[in-house]
Amino acid sequence: QLPAKVTIIEVGPRDGLQNEKAFVPTEIKKDFIRGLKSAGLTEMELTSFVSPKWVPQMGDAAEIVVDCLDTETRNIVLAPNRKGIERVYMTNCKAVAVFVGVSNTFNRKNINKSTQESMAELIPIIGELKEKGYFVRACISTAFYCPYEGKIEPEDTLSLCRQFVDAGVDELSVADTIGMAAPHESFALFRSLKRDFADTLLTAHFHDTRNLALTNIFAALQAGIDRFDTSAGGLGGCPFAPGAAGNAATEDVVNMLERMGIQTNVNLEKLVEAISIVVPHLSRSIESAFYRLLTTK
Ligand code: HMG
Ligand code: MG
Repeated sequence: QLPAKVTIIEVGPRDGLQNEKAFVPTEIKKDFIRGLKSAGLTEMELTSFVSPKWVPQMGDAAEIVVDCLDTETRNIVLAPNRKGIERVYMTNCKAVAVFVGVSNTFNRKNINKSTQESMAELIPIIGELKEKGYFVRACISTAFYCPYEGKIEPEDTLSLCRQFVDAGVDELSVADTIGMAAPHESFALFRSLKRDFADTLLTAHFHDTRNLALTNIFAALQAGIDRFDTSAGGLGGCPFAPGAAGNAATEDVVNMLERMGIQTNVNLEKLVEAISIVVPHLSRSIESAFYRLLTTK
């Protein structure tokens, strides 16, 4: 039984832009975010409060949130550590995503700590955020494969998710960071997650390195998942995960779901307009099928 509607969590302004070499002007990022919101995207990762030395593209996080928060939509910002959380506390943002890799090696490359060192720092932070009334999302990287360690055992992913759920998170976003999962693996892991964490919002985050993101989304749908992280234009990739291409493109995912009769409430024409705002500032071209269909006459 497939869901009647699906929630799209737009990660373009964060995952989509964090890997861009040339700095995208802050005003363009804000227009991009406004355009995405007007296309009907009601949950979005706006930016991340990470070290500007590690990820210069996200150095304008505080400026982005000043102008882009609203009360009608869920505006999520990422933070990897205490310092990031303190920066979030200086804003009016009320939804935070923490992130950790199942793979120790990946976590060290990404956050400069082992997975359990990160958890030791984050568990009290999550409790504190919940006490203060924040929405807390946990992004689980390398849930299937790691660019350094290879295959990740599903049990390891499930037990990290268990730690987050016990700590009190509202949502788990489980990621195929380097786009290596096959559909049967997606189905199996998301079915286990549904079984184990029935009371937690469960979201699937697929990168499209091997053209399998849409197929993996279909597999996760069949496992009962109705929330997907996608990126406008299929932009994205983690700077510390070699081989990570962009996320599943929002427009291609919306098109597939709507064709299946599954409601997303996203307006494709407006979405394409929003993507066009950022395109002139990117070092790459937009490869998504639906963007090309609508912009090539
Ligand atoms: P570190 O160098 O170990 O940090 O980096 P540190 O604690 O030793 O501090 C060093 C300096 O950084 C200090 O400044 C700190 O104040 C500063 P200095 O004294 O040298 O002037 N600092 C910060 N500044 C601003 N904001 C902060 C912050 N923390 C420390 N939050 C750190 C550790 C975690 C900071 C670094 O590794 C980092 O920023 N990593 C972020 C990496 C990242 O953004 N990755 C991409 C997002 S995750 C992703 O894309 C995956 C996902 O999409 C799911 C998937 O697809 O898998 C979510
Ligand atoms: Mg990602």
